Amino acid sequence: ELAYLNGEIMPLDQARVPVEDRGYQFGDAAYEFVAAVNGRLFAVEAHLDRLERTLLALAFPPLDRNRIREAIFTLHQRAGIARAGIYIQISRGVAPRSHAFPEKTVPQVLMTVRPVPPTPPEHLTRGIAAITLADQRWGRCDIKTVQLLANVMSKQRALDSGAYDAIFIGPDGTVREGTSSNLFIRSGQRLHTHPLTTEILPGITRAVLLDICRREGIEVLERRFDRQEMLAADEVVLTGTVTEVLPVTRIDGHVIGVGRPGPMAARLRAWLEALAA
Ligand code: PDD
Repeated sequence: ELAYLNGEIMPLDQARVPVEDRGYQFGDAAYEFVAAVNGRLFAVEAHLDRLERTLLALAFPPLDRNRIREAIFTLHQRAGIARAGIYIQISRGVAPRSHAFPEKTVPQVLMTVRPVPPTPPEHLTRGIAAITLADQRWGRCDIKTVQLLANVMSKQRALDSGAYDAIFIGPDGTVREGTSSNLFIRSGQRLHTHPLTTEILPGITRAVLLDICRREGIEVLERRFDRQEMLAADEVVLTGTVTEVLPVTRIDGHVIGVGRPGPMAARLRAWLEALAA
């Protein structure tokens, strides 16, 4: 397990960040999480694109994309872990605590590489249980910042209630996404997922799956739907870099579809696996 800190690679437990890092004090930092599956990094350019968009939205200086890409590949290669997760965090820098942007700071670039635990087999054979919760996140859920308190609190509430994850519901009743995943429902032959707005993260996995579905002739509607429509769906799945494709078979105690992972979850999962093979 290794870390990268501003150009240097070191054992993870030796990496240190100053206490006045703005990421630490203000959540003033962007992040990405890239997975390596079967020893290969997945969709790196798409993650770099999204990181650039986050940095732009936060008014950070532009990224040296080549340097970040090189660091990701070097870290991954040196770690030699087949199923790895690379966490990348860029904070606005280190400065005496003050809300205003510091005048002269250099962004702190931090990365870690660790094994990603395998998906518990029963998650795929039985599906997971979820609860719905009011979305208490800020208004820019479309960028990936380390301000994840609402996500963290909601995930823990789900676990404490015996479920595996929480699904965020907007104030208008719209189903948005999971605490670290996007969400699709299947009703009949069609899939539905929330459109790309500031209310959800534009997931890389979501985009990859949309592409595959269009190629395979499966209709996916990017539209808003409510909790009632989700509960009445034939299948519900969560998608993400770590989540991959996870069937949800119980929500707020209601059984989804026939109560078992359905054919669409299996197909989406197989397509994603084929891409990463
Ligand atoms: N989370 N929505 C949210 C709120 C997320 O945090 C994530 C990813 C996704 C899925 O995006 P992608 O397919 O690009 O991984 C959707 C990462 C994995 C995390 O926080 O660790």
